[in-house]
Amino acid sequence: MFVCICNQVTDRQIRQSVAEGVNNFEALAAELKVATCCGKCKNCANKVLREALLENQASQAVAFVHSGGAVLSPA
Ligand code: FES
Repeated sequence: MFVCICNQVTDRQIRQSVAEGVNNFEALAAELKVATCCGKCKNCANKVLREALLENQASQAVAFVHSGGAVLSPA
């Protein structure tokens, strides 16, 4: 779906940017120009960014565990 109409930025582009290392709104705006025109998309873009960051963290944690990196000790 389009998040930023002015700059034709989609939620997929935001998720892709996060996968490539973008981790804050300023970097996202610099890369995709999201929210740099009328600004009406800023809240929605921020929400998609936060969701993507959480998804990215979760997938990295799963990859870490599957790589044998998790060390769990009994409580
Ligand atoms: S809709 Fe994103 S800057 Fe206008």
